[in-house]
Amino acid sequence: MDGIILAGGAGARMRPLTLSKPKPLLQLQDKPILAWSLMSLRGIVERVLVVVHYLQEQIADFMAAQRIFSDYQLVEQLPQPLGTGHALACCRGQLAGDNFLVINGDDLYPSTALRALGQHDFAILSNRRDDYERYGVVAPDEGGALLRIDEKPPRGRYISPAPCNAGAYKFTSDIFEYAPAKSARGEYEITDYVSAAARDRRVAVVDSPFWLPIGDPAALAAAQTVDLARWIQPL
Ligand code: DAU
Repeated sequence: MDGIILAGGAGARMRPLTLSKPKPLLQLQDKPILAWSLMSLRGIVERVLVVVHYLQEQIADFMAAQRIFSDYQLVEQLPQPLGTGHALACCRGQLAGDNFLVINGDDLYPSTALRALGQHDFAILSNRRDDYERYGVVAPDEGGALLRIDEKPPRGRYISPAPCNAGAYKFTSDIFEYAPAKSARGEYEITDYVSAAARDRRVAVVDSPFWLPIGDPAALAAAQTVDLARWIQPL
């Protein structure tokens, strides 16, 4: 199975730290965030596709030097990053098989949760957050299948903590049949692919015991003291 890491964004919320360095290469404890992402996928996927655009030369240099995944490919998001769904679409034609995982490049997950995600055809990883208004809120039915994703809902709509989309997905190549139109914020969203698929077939919601979103400088600072080795086996 392939693993896709979405690492093409400009890291606007992480400025000024991302003015000269792409977000996946910011230092988290003793390693770049991207090294943690790669380590989390070890033993679960055989090959990694890294979607790049912003400051991509630095990511290419890092990937050439790392020893976590020897089998990897960079996929350039062209002509420019047009959203997470566009990043996914850019990988079509580069995938080795029918089944693949997709993870955000600025979120970290336990390897055990990614492994559980990989057991399904279609699945989305979820974790409860108090600050759910910053994420997509997932609504599962009684059987644990996704009903919808409520993207960045207003504060007060849900009881805290609400189950959020952690930004990790398992798909088969059938996902490309659910290509969405641009969203209200003018991007092609991976969540719109997932919501369209969920109207048509079972998308499992897999609960994760841990999720580390690293969206802005405050989140990166807080992440420096998290016991990551509990969730991701360091190399
Ligand atoms: O962090 C989890 C959240 O990720 C979910 O709760 C939301 O439902 C989901 O929509 C997504 O929201 P964000 O607004 O935080 O997504 P963001 O724009 O940060 O992009 C996620 C990753 O994808 C990030 O590593 C950058 C990468 N990316 C983003 C864009 C817009 C690309 O590779 N290409 C792109 O064009």
